[in-house]
Amino acid sequence: MTNEELAGQTEQEPSLAVAAAWVAAAKKIVVLTGAGISAESGIPTFRDAQTGFWAQYKPEDMASEKGYRTNPTMVWRWYEYRRELVAKVDPNAGHLALAEFEKRHPGAITLATQNVDGLHQRAGSSDVLCLHGDLNTQKWLDTPRDCCYIEHAQAGDPPSCDVCGNMLRPAVVWFGEALPYKVFGRAQDAASECDLMLVVGTAGAVYPAAGLANVAKRCGAKVVIVNPAPSGLDDVADLKIRGTAAAVLPRILAS
Ligand code: OAD
Repeated sequence: MTNEELAGQTEQEPSLAVAAAWVAAAKKIVVLTGAGISAESGIPTFRDAQTGFWAQYKPEDMASEKGYRTNPTMVWRWYEYRRELVAKVDPNAGHLALAEFEKRHPGAITLATQNVDGLHQRAGSSDVLCLHGDLNTQKWLDTPRDCCYIEHAQAGDPPSCDVCGNMLRPAVVWFGEALPYKVFGRAQDAASECDLMLVVGTAGAVYPAAGLANVAKRCGAKVVIVNPAPSGLDDVADLKIRGTAAAVLPRILAS
């Protein structure tokens, strides 16, 4: 560890102790996670530069219905690439700390994630509120007809219905699309009832998910941000911990 890193870590010690005490005292905790919690598993964050072949495309241009209709093969392959990437990595200490805390305190924690990578579930968290869907499931692009059976979809990039040509698409929330109504409703209810919200590894730039922190704050909860960099939700925070999810979560969720 460099002197600079050591100094940074020492500076964070009081904040870690305060957050740990708030966690221990809280009756209901909501955790909102974003791409940053999976960074230490080896998944690049959403807004990080894409690598290799994909560097030439902006994720924002591909994660939309318009992008998919314009170039379904390329977008399907981009999601295949991400599925393969996720399959090769493991949950990290941040994911595991959340899952272990849930086991020790059943019912005390609601986990809402913007991530579609399934790493929280693989770490052992149950009932994860997936606000932006799931990379590993598919649905039809257009309203399915009687002939559209996902199990019978014709293989291809993307797979499609061999009768009407309807294409499968990843069951994730794209730009301009609504969040799954019930899932988001549960997250909002939990945010309005919690006494502590941890906001981990999100730039806090994409609404309505980021707005959950505002809901919690308005309803009287304390808000703690865990992020090595400034985020769009810093103004809402009672406490900002400038550290990474895998380093910080095991410390503050030890109770
Ligand atoms: P972003 O990629 O926008 O932001 C990632 C955040 O994680 C940044 O604030 C980083 O500083 C932080 N970060 C990086 N490494 C970290 C680490 N090791 N520990 C903790 N934090 C770290 O990702 P999101 O905020 O999740 O939505 O993006 C939100 C949504 O924007 C995504 O779900 C996606 C995108 O539009 C859709 O696809 C609908």
